[in-house]
Amino acid sequence: MADSRETMVKAFVTGWPIKHSRSPLIHGHWLKQHRIAGEYRAEPVTAEGFPAFIEMLKDASSPYVGGNVTIPHKESAFRLADEVGPIAEELGAANTLWLQEHRLHATNTDVYGFAANLNERHPGWQRVDKAVVLGAGGASRAVIYALRERGIGEIHVVNRTVFRARELADRFGARIHAHPMEALAEVTQGAGLFVNTTSLGMDGSDVPQIDFSSMAAEGLVTDIVYVPLETPILRQANAQGMKTVDGLGMLLHQAVPGFEKWFGVRPRVDDTLRELVIEDMDA
Ligand code: ATR
Repeated sequence: MADSRETMVKAFVTGWPIKHSRSPLIHGHWLKQHRIAGEYRAEPVTAEGFPAFIEMLKDASSPYVGGNVTIPHKESAFRLADEVGPIAEELGAANTLWLQEHRLHATNTDVYGFAANLNERHPGWQRVDKAVVLGAGGASRAVIYALRERGIGEIHVVNRTVFRARELADRFGARIHAHPMEALAEVTQGAGLFVNTTSLGMDGSDVPQIDFSSMAAEGLVTDIVYVPLETPILRQANAQGMKTVDGLGMLLHQAVPGFEKWFGVRPRVDDTLRELVIEDMDA
């Protein structure tokens, strides 16, 4: 008799370290919810071991239909894939992989996750004229891409290392403006959206006092960091009575396109899932 595990659809998440990843919990929840005989598991792979892991995936004997990649493999995944979608191409990083006729396809679902989270929690973000993005790392690129795609007129990137912000402005076009941290208070004035993409305040560093009340009416402060749920930036914004959206929804939404690709069902981001992940974070 055939072993049913051999015919099971399998997907993975790989990174180093990987044990803190919430992806197995998220995909495991959806597999159960949709009664799919599939498996999603964590594969710890070092940076040195990643090219061999990719070769294994492309081999006919691979147990996987695809999977997610996280730190430190996002840039390598983009470079090693056979087919790269336009968003991953522009960001220079991929987080979602799938196999089709032994060719490895790569995309980046962070842009979708960011936009889908705000669409659900604060649809008014789509009408914003001016946005501030704090940070200029890999995560900031996905946010800038989403804001630019939404047609936001002015996008101000503020970063401790100003040349990284300038690099992003050069790469992403005319509507992006780069600033040093000292300009934060000034550029926040009149903004309809403020996005933190840094770990500011979580490594013991001082968080500058930001006057969010100078933002436009109905202004929103959001974070893409979700541990803790209320980051130091969100704490300040909440204390000033601002409307805020935490980063957990982006994590949940970015997982949707991959699950659909591998297992053939488009899952929903519901409160049960959100509570499950929060419980796991508190454990
Ligand atoms: P990621 O890919 O998660 O965005 P990253 O590329 O390491 O990670 O970028 C982290 C971002 O957080 C950067 O914008 C970084 O600022 P620098 O470019 O100056 O390093 C920012 N960041 C991290 N810790 C910070 C701190 N204590 N104060 C200010 N900015 C900080």
